[in-house]
Amino acid sequence: MIPWWYTELGEAEKNKLLEAFGEKRLTLSRSVQQVEELFASLLQVPYAVLVNSGSSALLMALLALDIQPEDEVIVPALTWIATAQAPGLLHAKVKLCDCTSDAPIMDPAHLDSLVTSRTKAIIPVHLNGRECDMQAIRKIADRVGAFIVEDACKAMFSRGKGGFLGTLGDLGCFSLGMISLVSVGYGGLVVTRKKELYEKLKKIRDHGVERDPESYAYLGFNFKISDLLASLAIPQLENIQQKIQRAVTLHNLYTSSVKHPDMSILPIDTLEGQVPVYAEGYSEKREEMIAYLLENGIQTSRYHLPIHRAAYLNPEGTFPNAEKFTRNSFILPSGPSQKIENISQVIETVNHFNSHCGAYS
Ligand SMILES: Cc1ncc(COP(=O)(O)O)c(C=O)c1O
Repeated sequence: MIPWWYTELGEAEKNKLLEAFGEKRLTLSRSVQQVEELFASLLQVPYAVLVNSGSSALLMALLALDIQPEDEVIVPALTWIATAQAPGLLHAKVKLCDCTSDAPIMDPAHLDSLVTSRTKAIIPVHLNGRECDMQAIRKIADRVGAFIVEDACKAMFSRGKGGFLGTLGDLGCFSLGMISLVSVGYGGLVVTRKKELYEKLKKIRDHGVERDPESYAYLGFNFKISDLLASLAIPQLENIQQKIQRAVTLHNLYTSSVKHPDMSILPIDTLEGQVPVYAEGYSEKREEMIAYLLENGIQTSRYHLPIHRAAYLNPEGTFPNAEKFTRNSFILPSGPSQKIENISQVIETVNHFNSHCGAYS
């Protein structure tokens, strides 16, 4: 079976892990500091705080902005639920924005109709390395005095018109989870250019406690990550150009070689510097296609449900574009350690899809 995701850690990661083990200090020690410094320098941003997940990064960003229950936070209707849980956990009003009709990213025109004087934060999600229209979003945010927290959990080292995604808003959040360019199992980062927010984030990661002399400064939690896990990110970050190149090569191969009237590959502007995490098939015959690929030993993964299916968030409105992408999109075998032969086999199989008999034509 060709898995829909494949990542492998090697000798370099194993050696770093043993090095961290030998340090005998497992929390907020040398590996955490090294990852923060490396990540900040690669992203050309002054401050990065390493935490235990991308979801924690989002929650911490909103805590740093002091989001309250009377505030509105706007998130896309199409994303992983983590983006909406963060404001939901703070009991803020979660408002949902549809995506554009041609790409699964926030529609600025819809966003414009949603903002009010109560909008405290907007969370654009750069899904699979695609740049949301940050210029338009910034204009709308400034009109109502809202902060921008970029969810770049699926856009690590992806570049947009203004620079690296995740560094263009007030705060940017990243994931080091399994389905990521750099994976340690569970991990995440918050980045910012603002020193004041950085200092606050470091405390929020540790229950909002001020040390020496001790005082309880902010609402926070234990968002810390172990140095053992952090160490795994170091060789991956040192080798990041190769990883980016591989992700782009795999995606370009899908884009140039999938040729079937019933399926397309959702585009990513790799020439602009966008870095895809995975390849997304788009087909109105998705279910048939998924079953056919499975019969041929190829695993895929469906897009997540849109956020308005989470009744506990009291969603309001309709989201036809999010529904359309959810219904028709799925992830094809991807990942940094996926073999080129596997990708070629997937492409050949897709190109022979015959919707009437569900077998090779
Ligand atoms: C868009 C988006 N936001 C947030 C997250 C949360 O990241 P994590 O799984 O590291 O908590 C993910 C994870 O896949 C994601 O895809």
